[in-house]
Amino acid sequence: MTIQPPLTKIPPHLLTLLDYEKQAQNHLPASYWAYLQSGAMNEVNLKRNLQQFADISILPRVLNDLTHGNTRCKIFGQHYPHPIFLAPIGHQALFHPDAEQATALAAEVMQSNIILSTFTNTPLRALKKENPFKWFQLYWQGNREKSLQLIRLAEEHDYKAIVITVDAPHKGIRDTERHAQFDLPANMHHPHTKTHLVAENLQPHQHPLFDGLMQLAPKWADIAWLIQQTKLPVVLKGIQHPADAKISIEQGVQGIIVSNHGGRVLDTTPTTLSSLQKIRQVVPHNYPLLLDGGIRRGTDVFKAIAYGANAVLIGRPYIYGLATAGALGVAHVIRTLKEEFEITMALAGTATLEDICLDYIASENY
Ligand code: FNR
Repeated sequence: MTIQPPLTKIPPHLLTLLDYEKQAQNHLPASYWAYLQSGAMNEVNLKRNLQQFADISILPRVLNDLTHGNTRCKIFGQHYPHPIFLAPIGHQALFHPDAEQATALAAEVMQSNIILSTFTNTPLRALKKENPFKWFQLYWQGNREKSLQLIRLAEEHDYKAIVITVDAPHKGIRDTERHAQFDLPANMHHPHTKTHLVAENLQPHQHPLFDGLMQLAPKWADIAWLIQQTKLPVVLKGIQHPADAKISIEQGVQGIIVSNHGGRVLDTTPTTLSSLQKIRQVVPHNYPLLLDGGIRRGTDVFKAIAYGANAVLIGRPYIYGLATAGALGVAHVIRTLKEEFEITMALAGTATLEDICLDYIASENY
């Protein structure tokens, strides 16, 4: 199949995020597509991330007064017109030549947040300094000094929060991607990091995983230390256990992204909605909780908020937009989801995000 170049305008058949998923495949080599779509092991979480939203029902109320309704939210003092952010995704040059620049532009126009990955192909300094809709995602760099260097760079270039991804001390085992023999292009530029950490001076009797890579992985004490070094709010991404949420708060973490990494790391964990619900019960009122994985429709956004999220992130869907039509495609994906969410709120009988709660979710499944 020939790979089509990205589109320069949005054709009328692209109406939903699922339309974008079908379209994007036409614009990517098969192995890049496999990298984007794959999940870990049997892809149970990958499927569950989608299925969990289908499995719960919205219980609508009628005749509520929805005049002056809105989808506004506020996180770390920043106002957003809607609660849909862009999850960190590495290596975006795989998907479009404008890569993270296109994503950042769309985020700014749609007043969403880009969370720039450590594995960005675009330098931190290249995103517009005055764009307030940008956070930086840190993968631990093997030691405190190197990790702090990246935080300093994010501070210098006016990123508004640091997201530390803590659920991937090792890459997930992704069969689909391995069968497709995906590899990053040899000449791909990562301005801030190497793509693989290597433990040096490992003795023959030492275990390459536990004494090697796991020795380089961050521990709670590193997170606590890092929080002391920066004035920016620190968010942990990839928390699923309520006990870890409690420790996060004790250490000064200011927000949590409940996530299973889009089903790409450890397979067969509980649904993110059930983890979110349990975590909401152990954190202070109004503590920022975000959720990602499987958000594809406005009804999904509604359900995540009902279960306790302040905002949600989309990952693959905006990459479908990026691959299809660069910044235009990303912006259209965000707008489509936002409009679906608004209509869902109107049909469910909720005027603001504060109104959306478990009263609007049916207690039985169907
Ligand atoms: C990711 N994700 C990810 N997370 C992160 O913290 N840093 C990263 O660099 C990446 N890179 C990345 C690449 C690709 C191709 C994918 C699909 C995912 C995970 C991402 O931030 C998010 O958690 C999931 O994508 C959310 O699930 P959905 O929306 O893709 O279903």
